[in-house]
Amino acid sequence: MYVNLRALRLLILLNDGMYHSVNSLAKYFGCSLASIYFLVIQLQKYNVDVVNIDGYGIRLNKPIVWLDAELITRYISIESEKLELRLFDIIVSTNNYLLSQLKRNALIKDSTSVAVAEFQTNGRGREGRVWRCGFGNGLLFSICWRFEKGVSNLSGLSLVVGIAILRVLRSYAIQNINIKWPNDILCNFHKLAGILIEIRGEVCGPSYAIIGIGINFNLSKSIIPLINQRATDLSSVTGDLINRNQVLGRLLSELYNVLDEFAYYGFSSFKKEWISYHSYEGCEVDLIFPNGLAITGIVDGVTDDGAICLLTLEGKKSFNIGNIAIRSRIH
Ligand code: BTN
Repeated sequence: MYVNLRALRLLILLNDGMYHSVNSLAKYFGCSLASIYFLVIQLQKYNVDVVNIDGYGIRLNKPIVWLDAELITRYISIESEKLELRLFDIIVSTNNYLLSQLKRNALIKDSTSVAVAEFQTNGRGREGRVWRCGFGNGLLFSICWRFEKGVSNLSGLSLVVGIAILRVLRSYAIQNINIKWPNDILCNFHKLAGILIEIRGEVCGPSYAIIGIGINFNLSKSIIPLINQRATDLSSVTGDLINRNQVLGRLLSELYNVLDEFAYYGFSSFKKEWISYHSYEGCEVDLIFPNGLAITGIVDGVTDDGAICLLTLEGKKSFNIGNIAIRSRIH
């Protein structure tokens, strides 16, 4: 993949938050004024908010606090050899990367591989959607977890991953963060984070889960109109810039522990906690299936393998697929 290293050098330079004249930048890079404008366009393609004000010059709207492997490791509370961290400035998709490494047998055997990126050129969401996040505006990472169990024993996995995210974000005392079945992380009913899990392996095991997580921290102005769902980010919710390195370190530790427990006990031991995070528990909802049909019911928990339970006119039923949409709140 082509990464414009000059554009990244410009980004590092602009990260001081000061105005830089196009002339001084051209002199610094030893190139023409047109080349500087080209680099600015390149940065805008990475959804960096760069402004160019006549008479002042070029400036970054929001300087970036870069991801830093050493800092992330400082916040990891499990033995460091258990995780192998690969950090990228720009990548197509961290899920794609781990999937291809797995296929090529290029992942380190005795540790859990993690790929993290500042920007994805083709970030993927659930159901074929695109996941958009500007350079340095969020956390974009994937973890490859090896299960001894077969593919069919992993139901409930995505709900458990949601628990790890909730535990960490709630430790920052952020109000109103909840989960929407199966694994959308919402704040005030706006999407804050998403989980994309892709499973590979054998029916009887072992199997591998590539768990991709995207969390919005500080979305750039240019990206918000491109996101085709109601989205939010941590800085709008808290009014603060939360330390991405710290959140990632803590989240990797939490994920490690939660996945380890899930591998032994399955979802049932997490069920009660998960229900306490579900924003639609007790609400009347439509469950919309991929074929467009829908069923209406009142949400009544989840099963031991993470299927949603609805009280319908025909009694209590559970479902493994579909998207829920609220009709009304009962309580
Ligand atoms: C969703 O649609 O809710 C899931 C979004 C998952 C996005 C993350 S970002 C890191 C990882 N790499 C991807 O391409 N997707 C996931």
